[in-house]
Amino acid sequence: MFKPAERIVHRADPGPWPDAEAAARSRLFSPVQVGPLTLATRTWIPAMVPWRATPDGEAGPDVIDWYARFAKGRPGAIVIEATGIRDVPSGPLLRIGDDRFVPGLAKLVEAVREASGGETKLLIQLIDFLAIKRRPDRATFLSRFLALTDRHREATGETADDAVRAALIAMPDGQLREVLGPRDWESLAQGFRERVTDVDKPHIAQLPHVLPGLFAAAAARAEAAGFDGIELHYAHAYTMASFLSARNDRQDGYGGAREDRIRLPLEVYRAVRAAVSPSLAVGCRFLAEECIPGGNKVEDAAWFGAAFARAGMDFLSLSRGGKFEDALQPKTGEAAYPYTGPSGYECMPAYISDARGPYGRNRAAARTIRTAVHDAGFATPIITAGGVHGFAQAEAMLAAGEADIVGAARQSLADPDWFLKARLGRGGEVRTCEFSNYCEGLDQKHKQVTCKLWDRQGLTPGMVGLSRDEKRRLTAPLWI
Ligand SMILES: Cc1cc2nc3c(=O)[nH]c(=O)nc-3n(C[C@H](O)[C@H](O)[C@H](O)COP(=O)(O)O)c2cc1C
Ligand code: SF4
Repeated sequence: MFKPAERIVHRADPGPWPDAEAAARSRLFSPVQVGPLTLATRTWIPAMVPWRATPDGEAGPDVIDWYARFAKGRPGAIVIEATGIRDVPSGPLLRIGDDRFVPGLAKLVEAVREASGGETKLLIQLIDFLAIKRRPDRATFLSRFLALTDRHREATGETADDAVRAALIAMPDGQLREVLGPRDWESLAQGFRERVTDVDKPHIAQLPHVLPGLFAAAAARAEAAGFDGIELHYAHAYTMASFLSARNDRQDGYGGAREDRIRLPLEVYRAVRAAVSPSLAVGCRFLAEECIPGGNKVEDAAWFGAAFARAGMDFLSLSRGGKFEDALQPKTGEAAYPYTGPSGYECMPAYISDARGPYGRNRAAARTIRTAVHDAGFATPIITAGGVHGFAQAEAMLAAGEADIVGAARQSLADPDWFLKARLGRGGEVRTCEFSNYCEGLDQKHKQVTCKLWDRQGLTPGMVGLSRDEKRRLTAPLWI
């Protein structure tokens, strides 16, 4: 994982907690309108992939238990993890690319309703992602995967395929890098990764024609399962964020200028809005800043935010960074992970940081975006996340116009009851997240995500659900 060079150690400190009366009068625990939905409080658990769906991508008991546990803390809203809109195998990641996924998701919705006493609204994050391969072994890549061209023949002075490949394998890395060129070198050094700009491939060129329908069909299934809303995943390293990216230079009207980069995200939104009832909230999660060289800055995001609001989105959830472009080199046999480089740090900042620290790194950008949305004449609620772990901090964000709703992912994982404890005047009992990113490390290894503050407590087999290696409990111990 990337760590800022300054290596300053920050200690999470939630600050003072309110008593029950002060909590009842607070902004954080006041209701807010999100399109057609009324959230009981301005508290929100953003999407977090827990690697708990069944191997076929269905919502089985483990993933249902996971969300029901969060719901016991009665946040205003929970967003279910990034859920794939295509019917393609993707391991224990939730999917919604076919009607067969609806019954499992309906059980999940029911479990959250029951656990929160009907208070928590439940949204689902819909995602599309492109192909990414594991970093290959050097010899295997050069002898099998590399598509040979005249450039390789010229550089090696060989003509027969086997001889060209053998010469490439024998080449020192510096020279090989020159001969391969940036794209093939990346496939060797990081693992092959598709981009939205690979328009020479028909399935990539066709994305603007295919995606609105896929997202719309997935959204209709989400409504059938009983969800209250849809969050379109336009953030981080995935397809829709790549269309929005300043690095998208497609020439077909879906890249280049901001107006063209946002075209597909708006078309997807309109298709989704048309596919579901007006009673469902539809919004998106996008990046306040991409945090990579040549990527979107906050000015771009402010422009996008106003455009999304103008199009009628019911909410805008802001994240930052989390890109493949600056990801660290994976080990051979592993895939690149978009949260390992500097932009990944911005997405999930940890306690070893720079002078700015990990708590509230998105606040200033969120304020700029919210102001732009308001200046354009809209009051679309903005959800801001990143390092939130205390009541005072959340109140300050709301008071300063940096958010209308406060998102807390890792703090809610550390203590799923933390909103409820604060609301009941029992904030002193909150288990504070250490922002160590142990949970993120599990995500990177595709292991069931848990929190180090509770996953070794009360490990009685048969009494609690355990991880596959039986060393960790899968959900936080009950509070009351
Ligand atoms: C284990 C884990 C999985 C995550 N999965 C998603 C995801 O599926 N979709 C998403 O938009 N963000 C995802 N995130 C990012 C969080 O939603 C959030 O933006 C980030 O952790 C920063 O907020 P925090 O400081 O409150 O944790 C994930 C974060 C973690 C720790
Ligand atoms: S493992 Fe727990 S304490 Fe550490 S960052 Fe994740 S949620 Fe916070």
